[in-house]
Amino acid sequence: MCCVPQVLLGDVGTGKSSLVLRFVRGQFVEFQESTIGAAFFSQTLAVDDATVKFEIWDTAGQERYHSLAPMYYRGAAAAIIVYDITNLVISTNVKLGNKALKLWDSLNIPATFLSSCSDFCASFERAKRWIEELKAQGNSDMVMALAGNKADLLDSKNVETEEAKTYAQENGLFFVETSAKTSSNVNNIFYEIAKRIPRV
Ligand code: GTP
Ligand code: MG
Repeated sequence: MCCVPQVLLGDVGTGKSSLVLRFVRGQFVEFQESTIGAAFFSQTLAVDDATVKFEIWDTAGQERYHSLAPMYYRGAAAAIIVYDITNLVISTNVKLGNKALKLWDSLNIPATFLSSCSDFCASFERAKRWIEELKAQGNSDMVMALAGNKADLLDSKNVETEEAKTYAQENGLFFVETSAKTSSNVNNIFYEIAKRIPRV
């Protein structure tokens, strides 16, 4: 089967590029640069008796690029929506270091504020927004997967597996926790998507 146009969406710094680079090149970069606009990759995968070629648009998570996203998801047969299981990625183009994160924690900002998605938005909430947008404006038969990335950072985990799994089930998505760093479940998520794409 030829060519599965696919898009990755999710908050800044959740690891979209890292997941693609792990899948396509088998690499992981500790200081991956933030994507500008979008980047294109392709990779083939053997699924059962067929070879599937993914044509992947890795979009930029920064809010200023949001308006470009429909260009990439409109023609897509599949989407991976990525959040960070530590959930403390803030949509204001700010990536917080460990010290800043501790300070942020100590401020005790209510979850309702974090989920408001106006100036600040936790990455899991941002993922839900993407899913809503895809359901409203994407292809109706698009295969969607939810990836809880950075699964290696167990000590900092802030999104419960069950919560994400339930949300995914209720919304008809395939869900898996991934780590671009250790490569856990990375091939698996692409494989599961390929299996769900209707054969032509
Ligand atoms: P934008 O392009 O800005 O939207 O970000 P992105 O979603 O492409 O994130 P990117 O792949 O650039 O990763 C952001 C940071 O998270 C980088 O420093 C990565 O090294 C790190 N990172 C990505 N995936 C993982 C992971 O699975 N585990 C850990 N520990 N770090 C990760
Ligand atoms: Mg990126």
